[in-house]
Parts: sequence; structure tokens; C-alpha cells
Amino acid sequence: MAAMTAVPRNVILVGFMGAGKSTVGRLLARRLGRCFVETDAMITAREGRSIPEIFEARGEPYFRRLEAEVLEALTEKHDHVVATGGGFPCEPGVMDRLLELGTVVWLAADFEAAYARANRIGGRPMLAGRSIEDVAALYRVRQDVYRRAHLGLDTTRMTVDAVVARIVRHLRDRERRAGSPAGAGDAPLDAAPGSLGDGHPAVDQPAGVGKRQDAEGG
Ligand code: S3P
Repeated sequence: MAAMTAVPRNVILVGFMGAGKSTVGRLLARRLGRCFVETDAMITAREGRSIPEIFEARGEPYFRRLEAEVLEALTEKHDHVVATGGGFPCEPGVMDRLLELGTVVWLAADFEAAYARANRIGGRPMLAGRSIEDVAALYRVRQDVYRRAHLGLDTTRMTVDAVVARIVRHLRDRERRAGSPAGAGDAPLDAAPGSLGDGHPAVDQPAGVGKRQDAEGG
């Protein structure tokens, strides 16, 4: 038991660009009373420039090296909610590490919804100069990595509140099953449950949807 309680209780969100990881992560952290960190923000803070500027000046391989450094920094974190960049878990060996660092949750939005949202928000160098077919191919390849998460949720037609409530429920179930803090057990992957709510899709909610925070029990 002592060994199990040493396992970090982080919650790590993975998924394609535009899936709503930042929006969900921020609200989830508030709901759980935990710190929220984003791998992209850790990188921009270290480099002192934006993600598009880093890609522009040094290219994607350099950015992936920075992500590898951030992965090492994540091993120091406990009880955090972490939103990762879309490509973060997709480098060799990274998903294995993330699965050890806490409960990994895949926010799996439809390609069309994620693509539209990522484009609308902008600042995504992986979309620049790529045709929609190329981005769709990247999306398909990455699904095989993301689906290894402990929990997968198709958020396309879920509200942010419903997504957060579903994650909180999963953490509590997992905690109960494992008889130890959430993130320490070996619960099987939940099937993506489809729509749990009929409000705005999670991917379309603006950041910081605090006024809807208590709409569902969590
Ligand atoms: C990337 C996704 C971005 C960011 C960078 C690379 C990717 O994060 O890390 O532009 O390779 O998919 P988001 O998933 O938050 O857009």
C-alpha cells in the first residue's frame, strides 16, 4: 500500500489540437482544487517566445526536444492537472511515461470539430501550410497513441461541465477500485460514452466557463 500511495495523482489530458484540453483542464483543476499546468505554457515560459515563434525560428524537431525536457519536469509534479500539446504524447516512449505519471484522459473530438476550433483560435503551426487531408492523416495516426489513455471521452457533443463531471467520476471510481488515491490503480479503459449532455459541445466552450461550474455534481 505504501508503494501505491507514492504514485503521482496527476490527471493528464491528451488529444488532438482543438479538442478542448485547456478549457476542460482549467475547470477540472478548479473542481479538484489542484494546480493546472499546460506543457505549451511551460515551453513558452522557458523560451520567452510563443509556440509559432519557436516553430518559425527553430523548427518542429527543436520544439519536440523542448517537449522532452518538459516531460522530465512533469515527473516532479504531483496532484496537478496537466494539459498536453496535441503532439506531446506521440513521440516514442512518451505515452508510456505519462501513463505512469497519473490518470491519462483522452479528449477525443471529431476531426471536423477539432480542426474547425483549432483553426478558429489560431496559433497552431502544425496547421500552417498543411492541407486538411494532411491534418486528417495526422489525426488518424495519433488516435493510436491517444487511445492508450486510461479514459477516453468523445467530447464532441458534451458540455465542458459534463466532461469534467465524467472525469471526476472516473477518478473516484478508480480510487475506490484501487483502494488508493486516484491515478494509482490499473482501471481498464472506459469506452468513449458518446454524448452525455445536450448543451454546447465541449470543444466550443470558451475558456473559464466558471458560471456553469456547478451545473453538475462532481
Ligand atoms: C501541436 C499542438 C499544439 C502545440 C504545438 C504542436 C501538435 O498544442 O503543442 O503547436 O503537434 O499537435 P494544442 O494541442 O494545444 O493545439
